[in-house]
This record gives sequence, C-alpha cells and structure tokens, in this order.
Amino acid sequence: MTSMLSEDLEQIQATAAAQIAHASAESLEALRVSLLGKAGTVTLALKTLGGLPPEARKARGAELNTLKDTITEALTVRRANLDAAALTHRLAAERLDVSLPARAEMAGAIHPISRSMEEIAAIFGAMGFTLKDGPDIENEWNNFSALNIPAHHPARAMMDTFYLTGGEVLRTHTSPVQIRTMLAQSPPIRILVPGRTFRADHDATHSPMFHQTEGLVIGRGITLGHLKGCLIDFLRAFFANPDLPVRFRASYFPFTEPSMEVDIGWNRKTGEIGAGGDWLEILGSGMVHPNVLANCGVDPREFQGFAFGVGVERITMLKHGIADLRLFYESDVRWLRHYGFSALAQASLHEGF
Ligand code: PHE
Repeated sequence: MTSMLSEDLEQIQATAAAQIAHASAESLEALRVSLLGKAGTVTLALKTLGGLPPEARKARGAELNTLKDTITEALTVRRANLDAAALTHRLAAERLDVSLPARAEMAGAIHPISRSMEEIAAIFGAMGFTLKDGPDIENEWNNFSALNIPAHHPARAMMDTFYLTGGEVLRTHTSPVQIRTMLAQSPPIRILVPGRTFRADHDATHSPMFHQTEGLVIGRGITLGHLKGCLIDFLRAFFANPDLPVRFRASYFPFTEPSMEVDIGWNRKTGEIGAGGDWLEILGSGMVHPNVLANCGVDPREFQGFAFGVGVERITMLKHGIADLRLFYESDVRWLRHYGFSALAQASLHEGF
C-alpha cells in the first residue's frame, strides 16, 4: 500500500502511524481530529485537489483516499487495543477476593425487645433460673381458672383477650406457664418465661401483642424476703444503677397472696430513672396463692413460692427513652439501626448493660 503513495503522502502516513501507535486513550481523539478533522492534515490535502489538472487530480485523489482509509483503520485498531488494555487492567484491579474475612459492619441488629429479654435472662440466669416457654394459644383453664381466676371474675374482663372458636384464648399473660411447669415437674422450681402475650388493647402504650417475662420460684421455706431480694437485684442490674430506689406496694392479683406492684424511682419531668421523687410501676409480683399450688397438685403446707411478671416493652421504653410503643412493631430499618443492638455483642452480666 505504501508503495502506491507519493513521497509527501508517504511521509504523512508514516508520521501518523507513529503518533497513533503511541497515542494514549486520552490523546487519541485529539490526534484523530488533527489528522481527519475539518482542519486536519488529510482534509487539507484533499482540499488542494481542486487546483490540480483533471488527470493528476484523479491519481492524487485515489492516493489521498487510500491514506485516509489507512489512517482511519489505524485509529480504529489503536482505540480497540486501548479499550481492551483498560478492561484487562480493571478486571485485575477490581477482582473480588471471596476469601477475605467478613467486614465488621452491622448488617442486621438485635431488636430492643429481644435484647431486653436476653438481658433479663442473663440476670436471672446468674441466680439459677432456667428458661421455659409455652404456647401463645392457651386453654382457658391454664390462662384463668388454674390461676384462681374463676369464670365471671372481674379479673377476666381486665385481661380482655382474643377468644378462638374452639374456646381457647391467646394467652393474656405468661402466667399459664407457671401452671404448665408445676404440672410437669415437682419442686424445687426456678424458672424464667419470656414470651408473647395478647390483649384487646391498642394505643401509644398498649399493643394487642406485647411481651412479658414471668418468673416462678417454688420450694420449701421461700419467703417474701426472697422475692424482694431477687427483684431488687434484677432491677438494679437491668437499669445499671446499684442505688436504684425500689418500692413494693400492696396490690391484688387473684393468683398471688399477698400481691405487690413493684415501682422504681424516677423523675416524672425529665424521665430520668433513679432520680427525683416520683414512682413508676414496673412489674407485678406476689407469693403464689395456695389455691394455685393446690390446683397443680403442689401441697401448699409443704411448699411456698413467689412469682412475678415484667412487661418487656415497658422497661425497654424506659431504659432506652423510646416514646411510642408502636414503633417496636413497624419493622422500620432506620429505627432498628438506631435502637438495635449488635449481634456480635452478647447480653452478658460480666460486661454490664
Ligand atoms: N400476670 C400478671 C399480669 O399480667 C403479672 C403477675 C405475674 C403478677 C406473676 C403476679 C405474679 O398482669
């Protein structure tokens, strides 16, 4: 091909070939313009054709077209080579090393309700309690009658729930697991029961589904002193405040006698726990009623015990300053990222909460 060109065009061709061969991805386009663009070397040469006699114009025109094609082809090849080299470089640089260890980024988070139940379990676990669970769907006897709440007792209305067509209920509290446990095993008993509970309630502080954690201790010579000691230790550990004021206030539950609500000290205005002169109700408790023991075949003259039930949402809201209970159940990932706990940091008493 080169042999077909006149010397001046041969010169242009050789220079262009060398420039193209060395052009970078960035400079190649400018080079193309300087050769083939409106004011480019080849274009200017083509413009001189008009001044030539017809014979010479034909031969010179063919040569210039050959030159233009050769340069165009060289530009295309160079562009393709540069693109291929860039791709090879990217593939090498961006290679994914699947053998790298996992990044310690929080992909998911432990829900604050789960976290609280884990913390409660850790605290009572250290006191020798074992975990138990029971079904969400309960029979009426376990949920009410065996707990000394006869049919037509007003306490049934206080725990209004969802009745199923077969006569079962969605359990209104975790207390039926007291019954299940006492029927299944003989004392001594020391159990903790975290779980879901249900009531026909719905507002900013009540949800139709919520969580409780029940505790039950049955043995010989168990007294109110044991109940108080356990619950004071629990609340002080949970709220990470060794001086947390705790108050026991006489109350009524059909399944305990005597019964007590447990309050902690707080400041109504600031919401600060453990400070200020106000009291906040936290949980229900009491000595297991002799009728309940007898209903489960446990002799109340031989064995005594205490029980308590904590509202998990309540203490979680207090501990973390969560104002609206409904946010617990919205599955809003932004909320969970903010209030959730790392799955890598376990709830353990040694590290403190
Ligand atoms: N079951 C009671 C409630 O849901 C709480 C409770 C449990 C009270 C055990 C005393 C003893 O309100």
